[in-house]
Amino acid sequence: MPIEDLEDRVVVTHPSDPKTQVTILKFGATVISWTIKGEEQLWLSTGALLDGSKAVRGGIPLVFPVFGKKETGPTAQLPQHGFARNSTWEFLGQVRESPLSVQFALSPEQVDPELYSKWENSNDFTLIYTIALDTESLETKIEVENVDSHEWEFNWLFHTYLKIDDIEDSMVSNLPGEICYDQLLKQSYEERLPVVTFHEEVDRIYQQVPESKLIQVVSLGNPIHTVKRIGLPDVVVWNPWVNKSNGMADFQPKSGYKNMVCIEPGYVHEFKKLAPGEKWIGAQVLYKDELKYQAI
Ligand code: BG6
Repeated sequence: MPIEDLEDRVVVTHPSDPKTQVTILKFGATVISWTIKGEEQLWLSTGALLDGSKAVRGGIPLVFPVFGKKETGPTAQLPQHGFARNSTWEFLGQVRESPLSVQFALSPEQVDPELYSKWENSNDFTLIYTIALDTESLETKIEVENVDSHEWEFNWLFHTYLKIDDIEDSMVSNLPGEICYDQLLKQSYEERLPVVTFHEEVDRIYQQVPESKLIQVVSLGNPIHTVKRIGLPDVVVWNPWVNKSNGMADFQPKSGYKNMVCIEPGYVHEFKKLAPGEKWIGAQVLYKDELKYQAI
């Protein structure tokens, strides 16, 4: 069965290999596992709640209509990272055979009314989420449509938790020369180092990074993950390290920060404005590639 529609999740299996699979929880349309020939590519906390009581800690949570927590503006009342990751999406089924692709949808009717009411102007939207599983890649694509009669604006982000062997042996490439906002220092600066390395908590928003720049996670000289972006100018790089992960009850095991790094392609530095009837598409492709230093 290449596509299993279970009560709380959908499991998609590649026709050429039963161990190449993606599992999507209907809650949040959260990808909670992606394996290539049996090898897990994503990090999922062993303490993640998968029962719909809390956004999933790990995998690929979806961030909409706001990234982080805003102090002012129409999203100021919304909780951190909005409501898409806390809503149960509708499974639309298979939409393509090769690469095997499935779709999920979210509109205001599926969002908890109290949560939705916190977004000013009760903006009407349709989100169509397409997940395409290939032999060695996973594409996640979102289409946001304004089905309202007025303009509204939003952030989008794929909060991708990539699995790695050891954070201290890993680095993230191709970001030198880019402007980043450091969420810990509360400062913007130009990235000067040839690679991002991790020896403490890192929480940075790299802004308007050219789409041609691939983001690679390199471990002991080998490119473990490559992330390509389509329509998503910003990249958040996050590792919570010891103290921050200790403060998150659903972050387990506590040593888990060593085995993950979040590379989060998004549209978050600015809000994307959408006119009535307008559609916008953003996608990430996670795959394997050779080492490609595009900036040092
Ligand atoms: C990242 C943010 O995207 O998400 C961090 O840059 C934040 O600041 C992290 O801590 C996790 O957020 P949450 O809401 O899932 O705990």
